[in-house]
Amino acid sequence: MKRKRNILDLFRTRGCLVLFLLVILVIGTIITGTIMYQMSIQKKTFSKNFHLEINSISVDDNMCAYSQMAHFPNGSVDFRGFNNYTGYPNGCYVVPNIIHIIKFNEFEFTFIQMICIASILTNHNPRLLILHTNMEFKGKYWEAIQRLPGFDKVRVQYLAKPRSIFGLSLNGKYGIWHSSDVARLRLIHTYGGIYLDNDVYVVQSLDRYRRFEFALEWNYHMNLGNQILIGHRDARVIPLWLDTYKEYNASLWYYNGGVLPTKAVLEHKPELIHRVRDKFGTDTQMIFYLYLNNDTSWQWQEYDVIHLFIRYQGFEFNESSVFRYPHTVIKDMILRFLPDYMFPTSEELRRINNR
Ligand SMILES: *[C@@H]1O[C@H](CO)[C@@H](O)[C@H](O)[C@H]1NC(C)=O
Ligand SMILES: *[C@@H]1O[C@H](CO)[C@@H](O)[C@H](O)[C@H]1NC(C)=O
Ligand SMILES: *[C@@H]1O[C@H](CO)[C@@H](O)[C@H](O)[C@H]1NC(C)=O
Ligand SMILES: *[C@@H]1O[C@H](CO)[C@@H](O)[C@H](O)[C@H]1NC(C)=O
Ligand SMILES: *[C@@H]1O[C@H](CO)[C@@H](O)[C@H](O)[C@H]1NC(C)=O
Repeated sequence: MKRKRNILDLFRTRGCLVLFLLVILVIGTIITGTIMYQMSIQKKTFSKNFHLEINSISVDDNMCAYSQMAHFPNGSVDFRGFNNYTGYPNGCYVVPNIIHIIKFNEFEFTFIQMICIASILTNHNPRLLILHTNMEFKGKYWEAIQRLPGFDKVRVQYLAKPRSIFGLSLNGKYGIWHSSDVARLRLIHTYGGIYLDNDVYVVQSLDRYRRFEFALEWNYHMNLGNQILIGHRDARVIPLWLDTYKEYNASLWYYNGGVLPTKAVLEHKPELIHRVRDKFGTDTQMIFYLYLNNDTSWQWQEYDVIHLFIRYQGFEFNESSVFRYPHTVIKDMILRFLPDYMFPTSEELRRINNR
């Protein structure tokens, strides 16, 4: 009782009341500021014309006309009986020429990510390259990306990191990876297009795969590779794959990303996909061919894309260290896309090589 009265007494004195109000004001300002900052990221990165732009992309560029495809009464494409080997007889495209990249919880790009984006813009030449993110990008390589030829095709789009699927939390130790696994399927389900991991290097145009309901690499005796996914938004495999998350296992890195959908979906219904073999470089043997093998006659140009497995090798690549790296395929690949404005001067090169 006594203590309570003391506190009340304190508040009755004017100085303390003013202090109390000030504290409330400061806390309020911080909370409001944080909320407004979050909202400003969303507003800035959300282009109003985005959906218009996406719809306009679907009507040109050798895309199949509405009348060339079968539809359900609700307007979805009916892919039953679709030929996973030839696509539609006239070879028209069903997948819009949009590249989707996901970048959750990282506001900076790495040197290699910049090189990969350069390879996409030049070697694939998309109508749009959408960077889906919950961050506001900054940093040296983001500046460099904005000067790449073809940057006018790049859009930054706000995307919240999925927190759960079928009520199961995606915040475990692999949460950042698993939420991207889920988000990439949902993005194709929403827009259609081509999903690429951050460290996927495009060697040549992926247009030939745009004829198919859904294309991915699934090599012999292996699980599917989910680093490169090409699909129509009504592709039948997507809901079946998402359904396997009812048996989500948060403690296994690649269970729902590749192991379970291979076993539970593809092995039973291989007709749902166009099966790509040894063209997307999703096999871990890439690590040997790219980084360790100094036989540079390896025919990397025969791949359409190559997943660089950048996290599995120890070297930090950048615009100066790449010149010190042994002569390997990765070095050739990087130097093809090192922008002029990042190239070291001859003086700097001499210093790098003398180190
Ligand atoms: C449209 O109908 C088909 C067939 O019933 C169904 O599989 C599909 O999920 C429906 N699409 C949408 C967007 O509701
Ligand atoms: C996930 O996989 C591990 C290892 O196989 C197993 O011990 C665990 O029970 C699984 N968890 C769930 C939720 O299935
Ligand atoms: C097409 O589907 C069949 C099953 O109907 C499957 O055996 C074959 O591998 C698929 N072809 C391609 C190119 O994906
Ligand atoms: C290839 O690399 C190994 C070590 O990585 C080195 O010992 C060897 O000399 C290299 N060969 C050539 C031809 O550069
Ligand atoms: C490039 O990477 C090397 C390590 O490989 C590092 O020591 C150096 O500071 C980096 N330089 C730049 C410009 O980031």
